[in-house]
Amino acid sequence: MDLTATYLGLSLRNPLVASPSPLSRTVTGVRRLVEAGVGAVVLPSLFEEDILEAERREGMLLDQGSDVFSESLSYFPETAAPASSPEAYLRLIERAAGAVGIPVLASLNAATPEGWAGLARSMGEAGAAAIELNFYQLPADLETTSGEVETRLLEAVQAARAAARVPVAVKLVPYFSSLGEMAIRLDRAGADGLILFNRWLQPEIDPESGRALPGIGLSTPMDGRLPRLWIALLRGRVRASLAGSSGVESTQDLIRYLLAGADAVMTTSALLRHGPDHARSLLDGLMGWMAAHGLQRLADIRTRAAAATRPAELRSAYVEALRVANSQDQGPW
Ligand SMILES: Cc1cc2nc3c(=O)[nH]c(=O)nc-3n(C[C@H](O)[C@H](O)[C@H](O)COP(=O)(O)O)c2cc1C
Repeated sequence: MDLTATYLGLSLRNPLVASPSPLSRTVTGVRRLVEAGVGAVVLPSLFEEDILEAERREGMLLDQGSDVFSESLSYFPETAAPASSPEAYLRLIERAAGAVGIPVLASLNAATPEGWAGLARSMGEAGAAAIELNFYQLPADLETTSGEVETRLLEAVQAARAAARVPVAVKLVPYFSSLGEMAIRLDRAGADGLILFNRWLQPEIDPESGRALPGIGLSTPMDGRLPRLWIALLRGRVRASLAGSSGVESTQDLIRYLLAGADAVMTTSALLRHGPDHARSLLDGLMGWMAAHGLQRLADIRTRAAAATRPAELRSAYVEALRVANSQDQGPW
């Protein structure tokens, strides 16, 4: 059975990708995911803030030295780079890409055009097969317009695309007034892939202390519905590859993404919940389903894909769903 897939112009042995998480933050972790069968691995994001912090720390060390030794400015102190420093990150790319035979992708969350460009270039040079742009910027300034947010994203993509020698994918959030139009503009700006969707980690309020707690949580299969809807809508309308991300818990969820038209399907929560070997059972399940439906190649799934989702049908499906739901006292929910 042929599960090979093409994503961002890369040839993958299968479409299942381990999305960024602590599982891929070491070479050992990346190896485990590869042994479990995934087609590609994405490293956790490097944040531009980490670089500014590393520079601040280096500056402090230089200042401390200059008070004590007059010759101290003639050397640069050896600092133990923390895992999140840019040097450590580039080393991780280099070592992971050298250790495994499948594509290793880097993930970048920058804050300035120079950050997007410079870091994307360095990541490609270090051996990343492609780069995910994790554009996680909450427009908490209430004066910021949607146009400004969109321009910032487009400029980031253009900067990274012009600098990187490898494909660049944008990890999107669904919170745009007109996501489809944004996707088309990103496509025209040179994005090689669109990942639908990133998971925004909203803080939660602790009722006891009244304080905000960092909100990290795992997804459920329901989280796959919105990205699948948008993948079905974008399929055939953009040149960029489409990756499904969110809510892949079982083989059923993986198949649903492929039927919607995803070129690659990503998973994090299920691998954190069940361990990296869960990837193997997702892939075995996919092969079992393909065999049961007489499909030999992954590409054959396209021929079974759900009919293109048309806006008018979406509206009538919504109206119908609520009409049925509101006419019952007890439903199947
Ligand atoms: C513990 C944890 C760490 C994550 N770290 C990153 C990250 O560094 N960069 C990123 O783009 N996404 C990160 N994510 C988001 C995942 O890559 C993924 O997009 C999201 O969890 C949705 O997929 P899922 O439903 O399969 O979990 C993280 C998610 C979790 C749960």
